[in-house]
Amino acid sequence: MRIALRLSVVIVLLLLSCKHEGKAKKIEEPQRGLVAESAMVVSARVEASQIGIAILKKGGNAFDAMMATEMALAVTYPYAGNLGGGGFLVYRLTDGTKGALDYREKAPLASNRDMFLDENGNVIKGKSTVGSLAVGVPGTIAGIFKAQERFGVLDVKTILQPVIDLANKGYVVTGQQANRFKNYDSIFRVVNKKEIYFNKNIKKGDRINNSPLAETLSRIAENGRDEFYKGETANKLVEFLQSHGSIITLEDLSKYEAKWRDPITFQYDNLTITSMSPPSSGGICLNQIMTMVEPFDLGDFGHNSLKSIQVMVEAEKRAYADRSFYLGDPDFVEIPSETLLSEVYLENRMKDFSFNRSTPADSISHGEIMGYESEETTHYSIVDQFGNAIAVTTTLNGGYGSKLYADKLGFFLNNEMDDFSSKPGEPNYYGLIGAEANSIAPEKRMLSSMTPTIVEKDGEFYMSLGTPGGSTIITSVFQTILNVHEFGLTMQEAVNAPRFHNQWLPDEIRMEPNGFAEKLINQLESLGYKINQTRSPVIGKVDGILILEDGRLEGGADRRGDDTAVGF
Ligand code: DON
Repeated sequence: MRIALRLSVVIVLLLLSCKHEGKAKKIEEPQRGLVAESAMVVSARVEASQIGIAILKKGGNAFDAMMATEMALAVTYPYAGNLGGGGFLVYRLTDGTKGALDYREKAPLASNRDMFLDENGNVIKGKSTVGSLAVGVPGTIAGIFKAQERFGVLDVKTILQPVIDLANKGYVVTGQQANRFKNYDSIFRVVNKKEIYFNKNIKKGDRINNSPLAETLSRIAENGRDEFYKGETANKLVEFLQSHGSIITLEDLSKYEAKWRDPITFQYDNLTITSMSPPSSGGICLNQIMTMVEPFDLGDFGHNSLKSIQVMVEAEKRAYADRSFYLGDPDFVEIPSETLLSEVYLENRMKDFSFNRSTPADSISHGEIMGYESEETTHYSIVDQFGNAIAVTTTLNGGYGSKLYADKLGFFLNNEMDDFSSKPGEPNYYGLIGAEANSIAPEKRMLSSMTPTIVEKDGEFYMSLGTPGGSTIITSVFQTILNVHEFGLTMQEAVNAPRFHNQWLPDEIRMEPNGFAEKLINQLESLGYKINQTRSPVIGKVDGILILEDGRLEGGADRRGDDTAVGF
């Protein structure tokens, strides 16, 4: 059954990829990503994956490799890799212990709920997305230090030295990167009031370095995490930010702490899925969606078939409607997680689902719970030779965050304030609607969709995965898990497969262009679904690691980007 299913999925994928060539290709063997014996790093840049592996080869573990990989991404992938942003870690230790770390940015002490509204109460366009007011207090350095201090085995200088060398020696710019520098050149000039180092003159194949960042990292290697939050780097950062009108102070930086959180863990068939808890919506939404689809026989319906897409999209709609109303920073709002995740509640949410027609978004609101008061991120997965596995998603929010570049320190600042709901009911950059639970307040963390996820099968580690993609993160992770578990794809095929997404509002299914047959799209349209193939040319950029039956590791590095798996 599985083999027949696999074959039909491969045929569909091949036919779609041959669509423009007008000829059929012969059916090939399952397409595997890199296979390694004992350890692997999959990230958005080859240098970052290589440095992570080099740290493992020095005897470090996944948490040491996390620090090195994350900082190597800050050097080579300034689009999303960062010191000026934040993120989430989900881990599973070799003894099966699971946990999560929240190093999400926070709203500055001087922020307030209406800070992005004009005198008439309307959202001022751009204020939460570009420039200094968009910046949340960064959490990345606090996060990588907290994880490494608790679980790592190497000293920080050993871990950071190869990254500092990389920043000094430089790296070769890829075609995708050169295009981005060109496309963002004019906004960089407007925000920074001058040309910055990353500009339109950088060409594919150029080698570029970042000595200010090398110096910042050297100070951090020498003085530890407090260098960023209380030391010379903190002073320079606040001086820079305030010269651009920011409300972030030294007090904001010195008060910042990353936080251990209990992750969200749930069952789906014989899988145990562990993902990020609030202030990310990822774990709760993934749990809701997977519980809503579990009663349906998706494997029989077929990969990306009409019926599978209907069930998956309708579950997504309902979960995103709940997200918009109930979810926010758990340190500030009460989240009725138990009810939101209960089988009775979720079964009830799907009661009005029918295969005969789309449920219109305006007929779906958040579920009633009695007594309740009311493009760019980056992901990497690491499995070490000791059996520890981590999934980490980190971000500046938009590409290059607020576009504000601290040139003397060598990094961009996030625009994470836009992940708050500036005004109830008003969509943010990702079209997500929010409510009171995600309003701005001093020191509050903005709601995220980041979904770093660890999957166990029959109690053993099975998969580590995650992705960028704003609101599409949750649905991309969801689809990738199902691609492996229900539809029998390899890790690489699961990552390659065309993706679709529904987030309740707007009332449409976003689909990657050229990924779905016209007949299928017509069928969906005739059932009342609106299809949008233009909003997201690419949905997600998933990086994952899967355990094969013989115990080896398979990497899935998304070809939508420059992502690369390295292993041994
Ligand atoms: O935390 C979030 O949900 C967003 N700031 C993530 C942004 C993102 O994934 C951008 N990538 N395309």
